[in-house]
Amino acid sequence: MRAHFAGEAMDLSINGATRRVPDEAVDPDMPLLWALRDVLELTGTKFGCGIAACGACTVHVDGVATRSCVTPLAAVQGKAIRTIEALGAPGQPHVLQKAWVVHQVPQCGYCQSGMLMAAAALLARTPNPSDAEIDAAITNLCRCGTYPRVRAAIRSAADELRAAAARKPAPATAGAKQ
Ligand code: FES
Ligand code: FES
Repeated sequence: MRAHFAGEAMDLSINGATRRVPDEAVDPDMPLLWALRDVLELTGTKFGCGIAACGACTVHVDGVATRSCVTPLAAVQGKAIRTIEALGAPGQPHVLQKAWVVHQVPQCGYCQSGMLMAAAALLARTPNPSDAEIDAAITNLCRCGTYPRVRAAIRSAADELRAAAARKPAPATAGAKQ
């Protein structure tokens, strides 16, 4: 990929669509979080510390939970970015969002979009995480102390996903008699 220059518009793949960061706004060194919130009006992703410590700004980059406050635009060009706005849809919440409601996870709510994105990335690669694996993967900070509910909600979402997978019919075997 060729180098990108300050003052040149940049196209990013965000939530399955191409979103243009206009030339007057773009700087390849600008953190992704700034572009999401201040330019593209995707304000579900939050600013907490700005130094990769709290996780409030977590998004997915090619499926990996990523702290967008310290991730420059130049590093995400050509990659698939997913934000909390695309985790579920109105009327069709993600299994984690449903579990979040059942377990009444959010308190003030400020950290929660980052928590959910970190949890979704964890479940995508570890379908049945232990508490230790949850604690190792979810390093996001919550001033309201929702950690036990976060763990419980992740476990119940994992149960739900496994139950849904078990309900799916097995794929037909090639050559099997009809
Ligand atoms: S705002 Fe990015 S880790 Fe805190
Ligand atoms: S719910 Fe308040 S900071 Fe986490």
